[in-house]
Amino acid sequence: MSEPKKLYIKTYGCQMNVYDSERMSEALGGQGYVETQSPEDADMILLNTCHIREKAAEKVYSELGRFKGLKAEKPDLKIGVAGCVAQAEGEEIMRRQPLVDLVVGPQSYHRLPELEAKARAGEKALDTDFPEEDKFEKLKNRPKAKRGPTAFLTVQEGCDKFCAFCVVPYTRGAEVSRPADRILREAQDLVERGVREITLLGQNVNAYHGAGPDGDMTLAGLIWELNKIDGLERIRFTTSHPNDMTDDLIEAHGTCEKLMPYLHLPVQSGSDKILKRMNRSHTAESYLRLIERIREARPDILMSGDFIVGFPEETEEDFQATLDLVEQVRYGYAYSFKYSIRPGTPAAERPQVDPQEADDRLQRLQALITRHQREIQDAMVGRTVRVLFEKPGRLAGQMVGKSEYLHAVHVSGADLSAGDLRNVRITASGANSLAGEVL
Ligand code: 5AD
Ligand code: SF4
Repeated sequence: MSEPKKLYIKTYGCQMNVYDSERMSEALGGQGYVETQSPEDADMILLNTCHIREKAAEKVYSELGRFKGLKAEKPDLKIGVAGCVAQAEGEEIMRRQPLVDLVVGPQSYHRLPELEAKARAGEKALDTDFPEEDKFEKLKNRPKAKRGPTAFLTVQEGCDKFCAFCVVPYTRGAEVSRPADRILREAQDLVERGVREITLLGQNVNAYHGAGPDGDMTLAGLIWELNKIDGLERIRFTTSHPNDMTDDLIEAHGTCEKLMPYLHLPVQSGSDKILKRMNRSHTAESYLRLIERIREARPDILMSGDFIVGFPEETEEDFQATLDLVEQVRYGYAYSFKYSIRPGTPAAERPQVDPQEADDRLQRLQALITRHQREIQDAMVGRTVRVLFEKPGRLAGQMVGKSEYLHAVHVSGADLSAGDLRNVRITASGANSLAGEVL
């Protein structure tokens, strides 16, 4: 048998890219590739890229530049760019960086085997189509190897919302939901391979409306079906849009035992003027009311969110409204970003905020978010949480897992294996994680 070829994949950006990288690695597995953790050993390097902010794309180009030496030493090395930068820039990537052999968009990576063969034959291989066929159907025979206790599962892709700052509707295309039976089959298969927690993924996951046995199924409907799978212990989903938080989904947070009390619900800004200019079609008030309803259904739910500061024409007063909203919600986790101009999106053309002012706002917002995050994490001390253990910690005899609220929890000196689900009393709150003892 010939030596397997080695594949090095580096993943940037969101969890959907993490899932896609897994699937791309599996697709190339059929071509005789096994994964390696070191680019020096690789016969193929694949960067799975993110285009959400300008810095993300620039990082890809500088990373590509670093492979020049490797390619000179090993002319057979093939270099590919996948993901959203591939989709957005297409051929331009090969023009700007001639060492790139292969460019494949997020909707066409089921064609990787043919593209790889083309690249091996010395041609440039490019595919950024939005094909009719379903890539997941083409890639349906997933390997049967044992897996860790947690997994991502993409159920919906693309977005029709066109927020004025965002490239997703252009790079990932229109909103599409996978049929429910295929998702359930994939989930069952993951559970048989050792998975105990599944995070359902979609750019707009709560807009899910996949074909079910009696017409379209909602995300809540899908969650209730997953809830029936023996051996699956936990269900999460991300990322949601406030406008798609349907009653059945809110109710499921109160009644579905396997659905975890954590919700990522980006609002982006607390100013109605800015929300309108962002084309968000909700107000700060409607978002706060929504959170009230979610907390009525599940009082202990931990909220998480995304924010953009320095969006075109954001004033200090608008920014204050964002701080007010954060004070009212108190997020357990929140991610905040300085507005980044994305050419081709509507906001790119508008009057920009002074970059220093935007930096200053970002720092102030992050300080407030960090304070809340800390307070919420510290308040876990003394409480009992349920932890799904995932892997050994850095110290000898230590295991680390996640609580239902997604806090990392360390336990030392207990007889634990990955996949164990235990009650843990929290004894200390550290910089980014909790520590506790198994009850
Ligand atoms: N600039 C800054 N942040 C952005 N996001 C999306 N587009 C931009 C942009 N142009 C942020 C939003 C989104 C998260 C994934 O990235 O907050 O929710
Ligand atoms: Fe981008 Fe808005 Fe769609 Fe989210 S909802 S992916 S921010 S356009």
